[in-house]
Amino acid sequence: MLRHVRDHAARPDRVSRKGTLTMPSQPSQPSGLSVWDAELLKHLTEHLETEADLLASYQRLTEESQSEYVSYLMALLVEDEARHHRLFGELVNALRAPVERDVGTMVPTVGTVANPQELLELTNRFLEAERKDARELKRMSRGLRLMRGLSLWPLLVELMERDTEKHQTILRFIRGRVRDQLR
Ligand SMILES: [Fe+2]
Ligand SMILES: [Fe+2]
Repeated sequence: MLRHVRDHAARPDRVSRKGTLTMPSQPSQPSGLSVWDAELLKHLTEHLETEADLLASYQRLTEESQSEYVSYLMALLVEDEARHHRLFGELVNALRAPVERDVGTMVPTVGTVANPQELLELTNRFLEAERKDARELKRMSRGLRLMRGLSLWPLLVELMERDTEKHQTILRFIRGRVRDQLR
């Protein structure tokens, strides 16, 4: 399975010319993983493979599309997929880290923070800003109703609304951990 990772690592141009993708650094099957972790690693690696192919196809359409709006939208997709790909690579690295040296950037574990009170106030403030952002985007979205399907504007505003949801999810995660710590 890990052969695929090696194949990709040998052809980094296949997925990104900007070098935004992080591949798992040690492409050989590590010994010492539990059956569970080895199975998880297999799934993640398979996903990396599928996603890399998809990403390459998206990228091709971005570059070769004869239509500016299609290229523009596909470039947005490529950005997201490149990030997904990086995250999967960092999950793989985290799995390998206990049994290998120098795996590269990995997903960190959740621990305590040095300044919980300060961080709690900060995340509350950020959450308020994100909620305000969401209200403004909603207002914009209503204003753009008549342009739906005719222009990219309503679509982009909708995507930003979804991003704002995501940002709140991230901030609520941090706030939850900090609250636990302060208990
Ligand atoms: Fe994805
Ligand atoms: Fe945001």
